[in-house]
Amino acid sequence: QSGLITMDPGFKNTGSTKSAITFLDGEKGILRYRGYNIEDLAEKSNFLEVSYLLVYGELPTQKQYEKFSKEITTHTLVHEDIKKMLDGFPSVAHPMGVLSSLICSLTAFYPTSLHPNRSEEENNLSIIRLMAKMPTFAAWAFKNKMGHPVNYPDNSLDYCSNFLKMMFELPAEKYEVDPIVSKALDQLLILHADHEQNCSTSTVRIVGSSQASIYASISAGINALWGPLHGGANQSVIEMLEAIKADGGDSKKYLEKAKDKNDPFRLMGFGHRVYKNFDPRAKIIKKAADDVLGKLGVDDPVLEIAKELEEAALNDQYFVDRKLYPNVDFYSGIIYRAMGIPTDMFTVMFALGRLPGWIAQWKEMRENGEPIGRPRQVYTGANEREYVSMNKR
Ligand code: SDX
Repeated sequence: QSGLITMDPGFKNTGSTKSAITFLDGEKGILRYRGYNIEDLAEKSNFLEVSYLLVYGELPTQKQYEKFSKEITTHTLVHEDIKKMLDGFPSVAHPMGVLSSLICSLTAFYPTSLHPNRSEEENNLSIIRLMAKMPTFAAWAFKNKMGHPVNYPDNSLDYCSNFLKMMFELPAEKYEVDPIVSKALDQLLILHADHEQNCSTSTVRIVGSSQASIYASISAGINALWGPLHGGANQSVIEMLEAIKADGGDSKKYLEKAKDKNDPFRLMGFGHRVYKNFDPRAKIIKKAADDVLGKLGVDDPVLEIAKELEEAALNDQYFVDRKLYPNVDFYSGIIYRAMGIPTDMFTVMFALGRLPGWIAQWKEMRENGEPIGRPRQVYTGANEREYVSMNKR
């Protein structure tokens, strides 16, 4: 049932990737993590349970879940030397750059993570450390940007509440976590947790195939996600909606711009390599946007502009012909903004959600004993020719 691959016998690991983690059906808009539909997981599960499912392949028992959750909680603290690294980043440093650097620095602090034949316990400890420290680093990247002192993790809080408190607490102002915000964040992280062989996941797998540490592999994935065509799209969507609002709210004008071949403008948050009907995540996030903004009493005009844009595009031949529908990034930024998360942190939020997927895919690649990645090429360059000395050129 899952997308099979033709492994070219002549060249290992140059074709598609064989994986048992996530199943997509682009035509039917199906997304399943280890066989479980995303709609069920988004409604009934939580991010740590989904992370366990992705990484270890099964939903945890109560005991397994409590052990996993407790281990993560006890590893949220970060070595003070890494905290000192933050002083080296100017406040202009983009949070994604800070995050990928901090994650990569873990290799230095846990050198056994580089041993190709490290034990399963060592591998599992790396996984726990990554899950535990990513929220701390993400919040610290934000604090660095703001020029605020960092907050230490609070182990009495759940995963999302701990992150929100590290993000928003100030020395002069305690931050009370709103359960609506924490629950909405948990659901958004579930929806971003894995997505088969997308650009950043393929990056994690190919970097990991060289026996680089899991920290270096995840750091590479963070940088791949940064691009506006991939995880950076959620930030570009808000910037696009803000531009439409500033320009009088005429979404039809921007629809025409997106169709103009001479105009590089694209409708950000629209289109997908695989989904050619609808992105099931976008449907859930659109409903959540209405729900969360309503509960928080936030009236964000860009939500209405986004809905108008979607409505207009779904009835426009150009978009229908090219099967362009809202993707996961189209509405997510509106919810992040309602939570008080600034736009340049949106892609960091995507990375926070995608972490268990990257980990699961890296683990699978290593457990499958896959050889170093070596994509083949079709050579289109010059035929053989003689060297000509410069004075004769
Ligand atoms: C993510 O792979 C994943 O699973 C990724 C992701 C994940 O969870 O990991 O789902 C997350 O990255 C979602 C995508 C976020 N990116 C954006 O929203 C950026 C805007 N979208 C596009 O750039 C584009 O749709 C892509 C990159 C998402 C997909 O590109 P494709 O499938 O390679 O499509 P294409 O670039 O070949 O375009 C096909 C046609 C072209 O027109 P023609 O040349 O055929 O006339 O559709 C047009 C494109 O010009 N087109 C768009 C468009 N996207 C494609 N036109 C206007 N607006 C758009 N958004």
